[in-house]
Amino acid sequence: MAQLSEEELSGIYDFTVQLAKDAGRLLLDGAKSRMGDDGMPSLDTVEKDSSVDVVTKIDEDVEAFVKNSILFLGEETYSKGATREYLVDDLPTWVVDPLDGTVNYTHIFPMFCISIGFVFQGEPIIGVIYAPMLNQLFSSCRGRGAWLNDTTRLPLLRNPIPPLPDNAPKGCIFSCEWGKDRRDAPDGNLVRKVESFMNMACELGGRGGKGGMVHGVRSLGSAALDLAYIAMGSFDIWWEGGCWEWDVAAGFAIVREAGGIITTANPPGAPETDVIGKAPLGGRLYLAVRPAGPSTTETGRQAQERTVREVWKRVVKLDYSRP
Ligand code: IPD
Repeated sequence: MAQLSEEELSGIYDFTVQLAKDAGRLLLDGAKSRMGDDGMPSLDTVEKDSSVDVVTKIDEDVEAFVKNSILFLGEETYSKGATREYLVDDLPTWVVDPLDGTVNYTHIFPMFCISIGFVFQGEPIIGVIYAPMLNQLFSSCRGRGAWLNDTTRLPLLRNPIPPLPDNAPKGCIFSCEWGKDRRDAPDGNLVRKVESFMNMACELGGRGGKGGMVHGVRSLGSAALDLAYIAMGSFDIWWEGGCWEWDVAAGFAIVREAGGIITTANPPGAPETDVIGKAPLGGRLYLAVRPAGPSTTETGRQAQERTVREVWKRVVKLDYSRP
């Protein structure tokens, strides 16, 4: 298949940024319309798989807006994400979450956003995440860096980019999500996640040696924003299972362009030595580590890999498959 020229890439990038801004404004208008003096009208929501998996009317409205806009780009453009089959192939593909952080949105907790990824030959190469209530727009285009609000290059601390702590995960901010699988089963994902969170948070030496003593544990409720904050360098580690390619496509592009890495959440057979590969976009299992500068003893990449292995030693395998 033909490659994209730099001009074509620029056109698609500019279009994507504008689309995210326009769609973000729709989200914000929707939120503001519920904040009037005369009380909060009930939000039009429908439960999907569980009571925490809701679709709002605004979700559908923004998706329709984005789909209509994308059709203007031309015949080589595909809008996908409406089914749970993995549809991404080598063709240019738009992978869009019109509203990521839906539960936050329903509670007017500002961590919600629109996430637009452009995937070419299977790789996310353009990403835009816009959180309108925070006024934060994250964007990246292959080879051109990752940016906050068009002007501030990511990661935020870059002169120099800080190395990862020598004894990571100690000293790291660990970001994770509780997810929508709330089954109270010993081998359910909720129990596996909480066990992993405990290991990461617990004092060193605790939990049979698995205690990681991370600096803090955070759950934003938006996978897209989790990844944006990894690219910023504000989060050191993000570990999550269960979300979908539309939650992470834009974040993949932004994190990688900022210098972060994303591999699989599930520890391999030999966490100490197995090769650290790239997480497949549709794999539903993600472990991201922020951009890292070199120290006197290792490169940034070596420190990222060391951190991945330390996380793998402490987390429990999750069980998410595709339908
Ligand atoms: C959800 C959020 C959440 C993640 C879930 C996603 P939605 O997306 O990204 O952080 O844990 O797996 O489904 O439903 O708000 O678009």
